[in-house]
Amino acid sequence: MKSGSSTNRRNFIKQTAAAAAGATVLGNTAIAAGYHHSVNDRLRVGLIGCGGRGTGAAMDACSADSNTTLTAVADAFPDRVEICLKGLNRSFEEKFKDQAKEKLDVPAERVFTGMDAYKELIASDVDVVILAQPPYFRPAALKAAVEAGKHVFCEKPVAVDVPGVLSVIETCKNAKDVNVVSGLCWRYDLGVRATMDQIKSGAIGQIVTIQENYLTGELWHRGNNPEWSPLEQQIRNWLYYTWLSGDIPLEQHIHSLDKGLWLMDDVPPARCYGTGGRQRRTDEKWGNVYDHFASCYEWDNGVRLFSYCRQQNDCFNETEDHVWGTTGKAKILANQIENDKGTWKYSGPKPSMYQVEHEFLFRAIRSGEKINNGDYMSKSTLMAIMARNACYTGQEITWDALLKDTTRLGPADLSDKNYKPDPVPIPGRRG
Ligand SMILES: NC(=O)c1ccc[n+]([C@@H]2O[C@H](COP(=O)([O-])OP(=O)(O)OC[C@H]3O[C@@H](n4cnc5c(N)ncnc54)[C@H](O)[C@@H]3O)[C@@H](O)[C@H]2O)c1
Repeated sequence: MKSGSSTNRRNFIKQTAAAAAGATVLGNTAIAAGYHHSVNDRLRVGLIGCGGRGTGAAMDACSADSNTTLTAVADAFPDRVEICLKGLNRSFEEKFKDQAKEKLDVPAERVFTGMDAYKELIASDVDVVILAQPPYFRPAALKAAVEAGKHVFCEKPVAVDVPGVLSVIETCKNAKDVNVVSGLCWRYDLGVRATMDQIKSGAIGQIVTIQENYLTGELWHRGNNPEWSPLEQQIRNWLYYTWLSGDIPLEQHIHSLDKGLWLMDDVPPARCYGTGGRQRRTDEKWGNVYDHFASCYEWDNGVRLFSYCRQQNDCFNETEDHVWGTTGKAKILANQIENDKGTWKYSGPKPSMYQVEHEFLFRAIRSGEKINNGDYMSKSTLMAIMARNACYTGQEITWDALLKDTTRLGPADLSDKNYKPDPVPIPGRRG
């Protein structure tokens, strides 16, 4: 948005005001705080993890606020930075025209590479940090960012194991002076929020059953370059290693589980059991993750959530949240409710949820309000770990037992370039 462009400024204010109105529904913690950045202060954004999502989030951040510049980037690998900056240069020029250079100012001295590049980026003069690296690296980077007083946009999931989530919970408790906005983007989608509003106002009565489907095809694989060490090969193809991605329930299906948690007023389930395995991912290149999971979560009040996720090509696909209540039913992603009054369907505006989440973040930074999504982003990650571990072990897992799990995934030391990942888990033989 051009400063001085009153139409754009009005639109921006309208959008962010609408976004702010949804804060309570979203379960955001918004409290008034003394310090804020006036619109004349240039906000400097740093991106950690220059892949697909990070590149998109950098653009969303710079589009959400008129006086914001991407000033620093960090990635494990220089070639990833190069691709990212090339793409951003192109899209910033297209979008911001003669302002592109003001909005994207990343000279060589503010490009940081290596496994610990996040430390240098956080130490550089940035106000806001985007965390879009593989999930394994998130807890340490989030802690460092919050301790350094940076506002954070934090992609999902927040960790890959329970100790990682407990660290994130602690970090978010201490994030009193900064905003922490989660990349669980459906919480910021206007249609999903309106549908949740309907359900929470009683449109389908009491919730009885939820079914979360994330049935989809294969994702990318970046090949194996003989110049890469075994550790680098894993980090390049992080999706396929549980220690890096958490496996499908955390890396992808978490979006569905988070909506299930939201439906249950952010009260976590009491227990979970399930089944899963890998039928198509039999080659070593697919690391140690599964390709399908089916889990059942139970709450103490009797509600059950049936959760299905699969990444296999040429199969039936559906991503939807089905909810059955005592007086009706809903499909959350279709934004649709059916009850004795007929069918309700959301017909309001549908701006990009990725854009809206950044508008929330920057509006809060400007106004001095605080958003802290730490509670639900941690609980959703725990729910996903619960299903993964239940399916890996073949055991039922209670929430209380889950919280006591001290297993840390991944190498003790990242300098071990020959790190060998755990074998593919076989239910009934672990835990
Ligand atoms: N909210 C959403 O809808 C959504 C969509 C896609 C991805 N994501 C999440 O965003 C994150 C990134 O996903 P992606 O699709 O962009 O993956 P990606 O592989 O395209 O990008 C990840 C980048 O992080 C880099 N990286 C690896 N180790 C690093 C380290 N130690 N420090 C800094 N950078 C490091 C990689 O080299 C890569 O460039 C994941 O957590 C993913 O689950 C969220």
